[in-house]
Amino acid sequence: MDHFLYRDGILHAEDVPLTEIAAHVGTPFYCYSTATLERHFRLFQDALAGMDHLVCFAIKSLSNQAVLRLLGNLGAGMDVVSGGEYRRALAAGVPGDRVVFSGVGKTREEMGYALTHGIRQFNVESAEELRVLSEVAAGLGKTAPVTLRVNPDVDAKTHEKIATGRKEDKFGVPIASARAIYAEAARLPGIEVVGIDVHIGSQLTDLAPFEAAFTKVAELTRDLRGDGHVIRRVDLGGGLGIPYTRSNETPPLPLDYGAMIRRVFGDLDVEIEIEPGRLIAGNAGILVASVIYLKQGEGRDFLILDAAMNDLIRPAMYGAHHDIIPVIEAAAATDQRPVDIVGPVCESGDTFAKQRAMPPLGAGDLVAFRSAGAYGAVMSSEYNTRPLIPEVLVHGDQYAVIRERPSFDEIINRDRLPEWL
Ligand code: LLP
Repeated sequence: MDHFLYRDGILHAEDVPLTEIAAHVGTPFYCYSTATLERHFRLFQDALAGMDHLVCFAIKSLSNQAVLRLLGNLGAGMDVVSGGEYRRALAAGVPGDRVVFSGVGKTREEMGYALTHGIRQFNVESAEELRVLSEVAAGLGKTAPVTLRVNPDVDAKTHEKIATGRKEDKFGVPIASARAIYAEAARLPGIEVVGIDVHIGSQLTDLAPFEAAFTKVAELTRDLRGDGHVIRRVDLGGGLGIPYTRSNETPPLPLDYGAMIRRVFGDLDVEIEIEPGRLIAGNAGILVASVIYLKQGEGRDFLILDAAMNDLIRPAMYGAHHDIIPVIEAAAATDQRPVDIVGPVCESGDTFAKQRAMPPLGAGDLVAFRSAGAYGAVMSSEYNTRPLIPEVLVHGDQYAVIRERPSFDEIINRDRLPEWL
């Protein structure tokens, strides 16, 4: 459920008509709903109630500081994958001891910075990284709390580009090698083993791959404890999928996900960490764009928008589906006609939808892309020298621009001309 609904024929974000925001900030823009973000965060809190747990929001899905502040205020931890994300979490007011640091390529600089400013744990992805972290921590006279990310060789049955838990993927260490690496970790200076980490992929629409992976982690927990390690946490990653179409998708509910976690880890006395991104942010955001032209092509019409693949890359990159709806509701009896919905960028990949049934729309009309809160704004670029689009946060009948549209001067003046030109 989200808070983007028609009222009196106009699509609203909570109590604010999107026409009003469009008139104020111009299009295209991203718009997020506070009530939806809060609701989705609480679904996980409720799902894990009664178990010692921390819900760490995966910042990579939506990293605006206002959103991080909002979730941080509710008690969320953060999952970061770069020094930049780590700094964002701290800038948003989230204390380092609620921040977990994931990612296969952490640099010495990133490790040192996080160790100096406070970190809950590093989710270490290789023996090589573990040795470097030991050097950095020992050099600073610090101790790095560590989990090892294991690769359970489970197929998450999701899009090829976002599956991460198969043995051919670059993530984690093979679960069969884990005990040897934990043994090494126990001997290394500056390293304190605190748990195990796993993340098998994103947009999972079935609990079975999660359960298969978590069961292996539970077995490993027992084995490692038998070897004398202190395993007090398990970080189960993110990945729970969301419905992208209103009709035919029913991914598992957080409550069922939580019940499964309880079933697998209930008797192990471990603290549970999870790292959801998409489920919290995805359906809490939309992208609003205007129609520039309805172009009549040969045998097909093109709805050309002022948003493009640089603003929302998911359709071009993953063939992802986003529902696209008019901001002014079409009358129930309106005939829908198939159109290709495209952006102005100069490549055919800049296509949001092919032959999508839409009510009649023309220049100046507003449309909204649903489910665009996660992996939307964060993956945008300035391709074609198109400015990054604003982000707006709605809260009841209030709204605020939480990232402004840069001016062309700001973009162009970042370039430097060498003296020989
Ligand atoms: N934890 C780790 C270690 C991750 O790599 C990810 C996502 C998450 C948590 C959060 O997963 P979520 O709950 O959001 O599924 N750009 C792609 C998705 C990439 C996901 C990368 N890792 C997309 O637009 O579908």
